[in-house]
Amino acid sequence: MKQINTTFEDYKIADISLSEWGKAEVTLAEHEMPGLIALREKWGDQKPLLNAKIAGCLHMTIQTAVLIDTLVYLGAEVRWMTCNIFSTQDHAAAYIASKDIPVFAWKGMSEEEYTWCLDEVIKFNNHEGNWEHPNMILDDGGDLTKHLINNYSEIAEDIIGVTEETTTGILRLKEFEENKTLPFPAINVNDSVTKSKFDNKYGCRESCVDAIRRATDIMMAGKVAVVAGYGDVGKGSAASLSAAGCRVIVTEIDPICALQAVMDGFQVMPMKSAILQANIVVTATGNKDVVRQEHFKMMNYNTIVCNIGHFDNEIDVAWLEATCKKSTIKPQVDIYQIGEGGEKQIILLAQGRLVNLGCATGHPSFVMSCSFTNQVLAQIELFANGYNYDKKVYTLPKILDEEVAQLHLAHVNAELETLTRKQADYINVNMSGPYKSSEYRY
Ligand SMILES: NC(=O)c1ccc[n+]([C@@H]2O[C@H](COP(=O)([O-])OP(=O)(O)OC[C@H]3O[C@@H](n4cnc5c(N)ncnc54)[C@H](O)[C@@H]3O)[C@@H](O)[C@H]2O)c1
Repeated sequence: MKQINTTFEDYKIADISLSEWGKAEVTLAEHEMPGLIALREKWGDQKPLLNAKIAGCLHMTIQTAVLIDTLVYLGAEVRWMTCNIFSTQDHAAAYIASKDIPVFAWKGMSEEEYTWCLDEVIKFNNHEGNWEHPNMILDDGGDLTKHLINNYSEIAEDIIGVTEETTTGILRLKEFEENKTLPFPAINVNDSVTKSKFDNKYGCRESCVDAIRRATDIMMAGKVAVVAGYGDVGKGSAASLSAAGCRVIVTEIDPICALQAVMDGFQVMPMKSAILQANIVVTATGNKDVVRQEHFKMMNYNTIVCNIGHFDNEIDVAWLEATCKKSTIKPQVDIYQIGEGGEKQIILLAQGRLVNLGCATGHPSFVMSCSFTNQVLAQIELFANGYNYDKKVYTLPKILDEEVAQLHLAHVNAELETLTRKQADYINVNMSGPYKSSEYRY
C-alpha cells in the first residue's frame, strides 16, 4: 500500500497519488448524474443529513464517489468500504481519501482484509480505541448489516435504519424481518422502479458485454451465450449479449420469466442442455450452485464462464480450485484445465464474482444516478423519520420514484405530455401524480 505523507490517515486504499485522476473522472460523472446534483441543489441549504453518521458498504467506483460527495454535501459524516473485493476503482478510492473521508477499498483485497474493512467502517472518530457508532447504514448485498447484527448487537440498537441497494441484500433483510431479528427499519432501494428496472436491467445491458470484451477481447457475434436467470439482471444481460450478435439461450426456474424470455426471442432450456452449445455462460440468478461440476465437464473448449449476480456462489469455483489446474492470463481472467488429463479448458472471469465490476467499471453514471438518487432520498427519509417506522422492510413511495425519473428526463431531452384535468379524472389519477397504482408492474 502506498500512502503519501498527510495528517489524514484514516483510510486504506491502493495509491493516494491517483486522486487527481479520480477527481477528473468524478467531474465527468457529475454531468451524467443529474438526479444527485438536483438533490444537492434542492436540499443543500437545509443539510438534512447533519449529524448522520453513515457507514457505507457499496462498490467504491467513480459513481459512488459522486454519491458520497452528495451525502457529505447534505451534512452527513461518512465512512465507506467496498462491498466486493474486486470492484474498487482505485482512483475513485484515492479521490475520496484525498477529501479526508475515511475509505477502505482497494481492488484485489483478500477475504480477510474485507472482514477487517467491515470492522473499520463502523469506527467513527476513533481515538485510541474509543469510537462513536454509526447511526445509519447504507448497504449493498447486506454484508455490513449482517456483520453488525451478528457481531455488534449493542451498536445495532443505535442505528436508525439501513438503506439497501440490491436484490440479494433485500433477500437477507427479509429473512431477518421474518425471523423478527431485524433490529432497525430498512428501506428497500432495489425495488424502487427507477432502481431495479433501470440499474439491474439497462445497466447490465451496457455493462455485461463491456466486461466480457475487456477481459477476453473475444468476438461476440456468432457465439452462443447462456444466461441463467431472466429477472431484471438476466433481461439486461441477455439484451446486451444479443445486441452484440450472440445467439442467447436462457435458463429459468420461473415459468413467467421463462415465457418472457421466449417472447423476447430467446430459447429456454435447462442448463444441462444449454451448456452443450455454450461459448459464454453468464449467471444472473442471485441463487447458488447454478453452474456445477457436471456442467464444467460438459462445456466446450474455452467456454467463458462468469457471474453478474451479487455473490460468488452461483458458480462452483471451489470445485474448480480444488480439482483443476489453473493458470492466470491476467488479473480476473483464469484458465482451468478440466478432466483427468486436462484435455479441455474453460475461462473463468473475476473468480466468479460480479463480472461487470470485476472486469469492467460497472454501470454507466447516468443509470447509477437513478439508483443513487433513490439511495439519498431513502437516507434522508429514514434519518428524519426512522423512529416512526417499525423494524420492517419498506419501499419508497411511488411519488418519489416518479420524482427520481423526472429528475433524469431533461438530460436525455425528454419532455412529458401534459395531462388535462378531464384526462386525469378519466383515468382517476392526481394531476401531479402518482400516475400508477402501487400494483402496476412496468
Ligand atoms: N452486477 C450488477 O451490476 C447487478 C445489479 C443489480 C443486481 N445484481 C444482482 O444480480 C442478481 C439478480 O438480480 P435480479 O434483480 O435480476 O433478481 P431477480 O429476482 O429479478 O431475477 C433472478 C432470476 O433468477 C431466476 N432463478 C433463480 N434460481 C435459478 C436457477 N437455479 N436457474 C435459473 N434461474 C434461476 C429467478 O426465477 C429470477 O427470475 C442478484 O444477486 C442481485 O443482487 C447485480
